[in-house]
Amino acid sequence: MADLIAEIQALEAKAASAIAAAADTEALQNVTQEFTGKKGALTHVMKQLGSLTPEQRGEVGKAANIFKARLEELLAAKEAVLAEARFASLAETEFVDLSVTPGEYAAIASGATHSGHVHPIAQTQKKLEEIFTSMGFSIVDGPQVEDDYHNFGALNFTDDHPARDMQDTFYTVTKHLLRTHTSSVQIRALEKMKPPIRIIAPGRVFRYEEVDASHEHTFYQMEGMIIDRKVSVGNLLHLMQTLLSEVFSKGVEVRLRPGYFPFVEPGFELDMKCLVCNGTGCPVCKHSGWVEVLPCGLVHPNVIQKAGLSPEEWQGAAFGLGLNRLVMMQHGIEDIRHFMAGKLDFLRQF
Ligand code: DAH
Repeated sequence: MADLIAEIQALEAKAASAIAAAADTEALQNVTQEFTGKKGALTHVMKQLGSLTPEQRGEVGKAANIFKARLEELLAAKEAVLAEARFASLAETEFVDLSVTPGEYAAIASGATHSGHVHPIAQTQKKLEEIFTSMGFSIVDGPQVEDDYHNFGALNFTDDHPARDMQDTFYTVTKHLLRTHTSSVQIRALEKMKPPIRIIAPGRVFRYEEVDASHEHTFYQMEGMIIDRKVSVGNLLHLMQTLLSEVFSKGVEVRLRPGYFPFVEPGFELDMKCLVCNGTGCPVCKHSGWVEVLPCGLVHPNVIQKAGLSPEEWQGAAFGLGLNRLVMMQHGIEDIRHFMAGKLDFLRQF
């Protein structure tokens, strides 16, 4: 009898470890079968009661009942743990977001969601801002709806200056205008800041243009200006070369040609040796070996004077980077109209 009772008690430890190892309800049912089912371990023990006295049977029966009760307790506890885990994973896999619109739901269900990204012009703008701020420049901003003084007058365009025709202008009924270039921010910076000054002014500009593959009515520029006691064409060249090498991630060669802008003297067009053919001539550089990149120059003494500074004491250099053009060169984009067409197929390439 004592043997049988010991056998039943030993079953408890075995059952406990089988229950602990069970991963789901089905496994728990198997454990029940294994221990208390018709062919289970307990039934096997009980079959041996025949040779015992009624009292002895009673003792073994008690042990069997204790085991059954214990088994049930263990099963119930494990079932509760399994149920909780099921609900927890349900909350992850089968939640319902009532704020999702039908369109969004369709996109999610078909796997067609796309996360947005930064526009290629903004990407290049950000990269330039990083390069310039690392060289001690500050980023400044100015209004897009400007007055004639900041866009033209203070930049040495007199009222009847023919150079005003270089930039076809949108005027408002209030006699303001949409700034035609970010050079207007040069003046705003000169009014506010004390020299020495190093600024860049990225932003949107507008021209009354016939739109075609290389002209837009709305585009992006980045103006740069340095005001210091001694500024030379050499400083300007070095700055431009450093900048372009960073932008194109390789050493570039630059050259200056004379260019006319009323607010710089001397004024230049800066060319870069063609990166496609390395200067030997190809369709990109129209077989000249050089690509026009940006206009620049030394700030005209009249501009410095208008800002209330002495041109004897202060000198300056400035450049006007066309961001659209630069991004077109970086990525081989052939048509400026792509930038504002709102076509996702185009934008997703960058
Ligand atoms: N603002 C001129 C334009 O949009 C470009 C320009 C030329 C800017 C020469 C400059 C400069 O700073 O020095 O046509």
